[in-house]
Amino acid sequence: MSLPPVGDPSLLIFPDADKSPLSIRAKALVFIDPRSRQLRNEVERLAGLPVPILIQGETGTGKELLARHIHRCSERPSLFVALSCSSLSPKHGEAELFGYSAGAHQGAPSSRAGWLGSANGGTLYLDEIADLPLPLQGQLLGVLETGEAWRVGAAQPTPLDIRLVAASSVELWQAVRAGKFDERLAHYLSDGRLQLPPLRERVGDVLPLAEYFLGIYTQRLRLPLPGISLAAQRALEQHDWPGNTRELENVVHFALLVCDADEIDVHHLNLPAAPPLERIEQALERLIDDDDAAQLAVLRELLRRAEQRLAV
Ligand SMILES: Nc1ncnc2c1ncn2[C@@H]1O[C@H](COP(=O)(O)OP(=O)(O)OP(=O)(O)O)[C@@H](O)[C@H]1O
Ligand SMILES: [Mg+2]
Repeated sequence: MSLPPVGDPSLLIFPDADKSPLSIRAKALVFIDPRSRQLRNEVERLAGLPVPILIQGETGTGKELLARHIHRCSERPSLFVALSCSSLSPKHGEAELFGYSAGAHQGAPSSRAGWLGSANGGTLYLDEIADLPLPLQGQLLGVLETGEAWRVGAAQPTPLDIRLVAASSVELWQAVRAGKFDERLAHYLSDGRLQLPPLRERVGDVLPLAEYFLGIYTQRLRLPLPGISLAAQRALEQHDWPGNTRELENVVHFALLVCDADEIDVHHLNLPAAPPLERIEQALERLIDDDDAAQLAVLRELLRRAEQRLAV
């Protein structure tokens, strides 16, 4: 199998991995497929520039891991602060994000810097930015453009130096067209736009990642390192990975726990059978733009005929 040895420049080891939160368990960024290597070059080029970055990619593709790599490459001295926009309180989102001054509302005896303030001098990672309420999107743009934020109830703005790395699993321009995302913010984010392809489109990463996770989990569980049979390797490469790298990590972990031989075989992987046509149809819908209803109709018809043939 193809995981490069430690020291190989294509395997990026994170020196401070032990400080990462539990949700990001990776100690390295495994980017071996040609598409991933290309993306890594692009990431490292953008990291040093004073531009905001938008990472678009399906769930589990490694957006947060990539954002942490950007922070590391940018050599910004302060913290990497991660916030999921969907976790902001509907009522106090503005104060949580931009901070508030003493007495701004009941129960606010002292001032708070808010998420933006705590990322001052560092990187603010805003996950699922499309979930940020529209009025806050406009305010955020104002902060990024002017370099100062108005805390709720404050008489004057606070200077802020923030590098924004935003992530989205939905296509932002589609959200703009649906009236759910601020067009100006989408423009502002579009210079540093990175598309993190789904795992099924960078098959060259699958086995190195599987081997990498095996290494991590055998170490953690103090188990001997099993091989992966050729049939299991093929199954891993052919799987559709709707949950992307996170799903692969879970599959490998599970396989290791149930494997009673010195090689992981297909039945240890517990992969679902080939996707039903319904799921293929949903995937097509995701791929095809709303504007392309005619193309979608043709593909649906072809699927329908394929289904009829399979049923015969
Ligand atoms: N290239 C990679 N190398 C090593 N580990 C990876 C890689 N990509 C993802 N992972 C691991 O997969 C898991 C999911 O990654 P991450 O949380 O960054 O994905 P995400 O795109 O932010 O997911 P979500 O959309 O659900 O927030 C993490 O445990 C991460 O460490
Ligand atoms: Mg994430």
